[in-house]
Amino acid sequence: MENVLVVDHPVVQRYITVLRDKTTNTASFRRAMATIGNILAYHALSDLPLQEIEVETPIQKTKGFVPANDVIVVPILRAGLSLVDGIINFIPEAKVGHVGVYRDETTHQPVNYYDNLPNGIKHGYTLVVDPMLATGGSGSHAISYLKKSGATNIRFVCLIAAPEGIKRLQDDHPDVPIITAAIDEKLNEQAFIVPGLGDAGDRYFGTQ
Ligand code: PRP
Repeated sequence: MENVLVVDHPVVQRYITVLRDKTTNTASFRRAMATIGNILAYHALSDLPLQEIEVETPIQKTKGFVPANDVIVVPILRAGLSLVDGIINFIPEAKVGHVGVYRDETTHQPVNYYDNLPNGIKHGYTLVVDPMLATGGSGSHAISYLKKSGATNIRFVCLIAAPEGIKRLQDDHPDVPIITAAIDEKLNEQAFIVPGLGDAGDRYFGTQ
C-alpha cells in the first residue's frame, strides 16, 4: 500500500497479541503500548532531517548531528496518550501538543473539544498519534486542524488501522505517510476495528 509502512517486527507482533488479549490487565496493557510506541517512533523518525555540527570527543573534534527540526508529537486525546510514553522515551527532547477529538457514538463523526500546540509547529516534524485508525474521521480531522495551524511535515502513527481508515486518510491527506503496527480486516456496525483490541482509551486508562 502506498505511503503506508506496516512495522512488521517480531517484538511488535508479540506485544500486539498482548494488547488484543481481553484478559490483559491495565499494567501489562500500558507496558505493551510503551514498547510498541518506542518501536513505532524509531520507524516514524527514520527520515528526520539532520543538521551537521561539530562535537569534541575526549580524543579530538569530529562531526556530529542533531535534528534539523523540532519533533512534535501530537496525541489525539485521549487514547493517543497511550503511545506518547514510548515515543518520548525514544526522543526525549520532542515537544508534545494535544488535540482532543472524540467520536460521537451515534453519528461516528469527530468532535473537537481541546487543543494546545507548541510554538514552531510550522517548521516541526510532526507525528500525529492515535492507536486506532477506524473510520479515519478523528485522524483526518486532527490533521486538517494541524495543517490550518501551519504544520507541513506530518506523519500519522497508529497501532492498528482498518482499511477504511487508511483509505479515508489517503483520500483526505495524500501527503501524510501512515506508520502502523497492523492492518486489520474491517470495521463492524459500531465502527469498531475487527478483530482490533476493543476501546484502546478505556483499556489504557482503566475506565472500562
Ligand atoms: C477512538 C480512538 C480514535 C477514534 C478512532 O477514540 O482512540 O481516536 O476512536 O475512530 P475513527 O478513526 O473512526 O475516528 P474515542 O472516541 O473512543 O475517544 P477516546 O480516545 O477518548 O477513548
